[in-house]
Amino acid sequence: MKKLILIISLLMLALAVVGCGGGEKKAADGKAAVKVLKIGTNPDFAPFEFQDEKTKDYAGFDMDLIKALAKQAGYEAKVTSLAFDGLLPALMAGNIDVAISGMTITKERAEKVLFTDPYYKSGLSIITKTSNTAINNLKDLEGKKIAVQIGTSSAMAAKKIANANVREFNNVSDVYMELKNGGVDAAINDLPVNQYYIKTANNKELKIVGSILEAEDYGIALDKKNTEVQKKLNAALAELKKNGEYDKIYEKWFGKQIK
Ligand code: ARG
Repeated sequence: MKKLILIISLLMLALAVVGCGGGEKKAADGKAAVKVLKIGTNPDFAPFEFQDEKTKDYAGFDMDLIKALAKQAGYEAKVTSLAFDGLLPALMAGNIDVAISGMTITKERAEKVLFTDPYYKSGLSIITKTSNTAINNLKDLEGKKIAVQIGTSSAMAAKKIANANVREFNNVSDVYMELKNGGVDAAINDLPVNQYYIKTANNKELKIVGSILEAEDYGIALDKKNTEVQKKLNAALAELKKNGEYDKIYEKWFGKQIK
């Protein structure tokens, strides 16, 4: 039994080593070509990442940012769609190099993976039906049915609420669907995503209530071994903030920044 565990661990280690870093592509002349940066995201989180209905491309703030960062750092960006709760395992298994997915830098995650410097200030908020007058703040959620996306900071926040019946869904669109269908009393999700959803869908059916539950910083996650790419992305982020490109991308999705 012990031997088997040892063999499996060794195999996993070997896989992780093979999988880390950008995959090197060789050009026809044998010279090393641009390295591919394998990016994982859960593209159901507008305006950060979502699939454009017409072009089928992945679009959003995170997508524009990671493409600009990859270019700045000398990588070719290749985006893969994954379940949100599958992103950290995929990083640790070396299937992807980085995860950008509106991901909050948390203590628990930072024990398992690396994060770049924060790139966006966010927070959690409560969303409920416009017709619901009983829920106005966090306290009102006690004993209520709450929808959240599985593996998120919202799920963690909801589970701290006394007697709450927390229902977890794979995707944020399922969370909104359940709320609209009346299967839950409220949902907890990232504020900018709730705001964008209400605005773009012209969704008078739903409203945001209460103040920000938790202030959060988004970061790009990498495997613990991947300090080299982390350094390059941090340098690239600093450069894009300096040269105005970050602001351009920010304004495209959120309007003028209040500084
Ligand atoms: N910020 C939250 C977290 O990190 C939610 C992120 C969900 N992202 C997504 N693409 N669905 O836990």
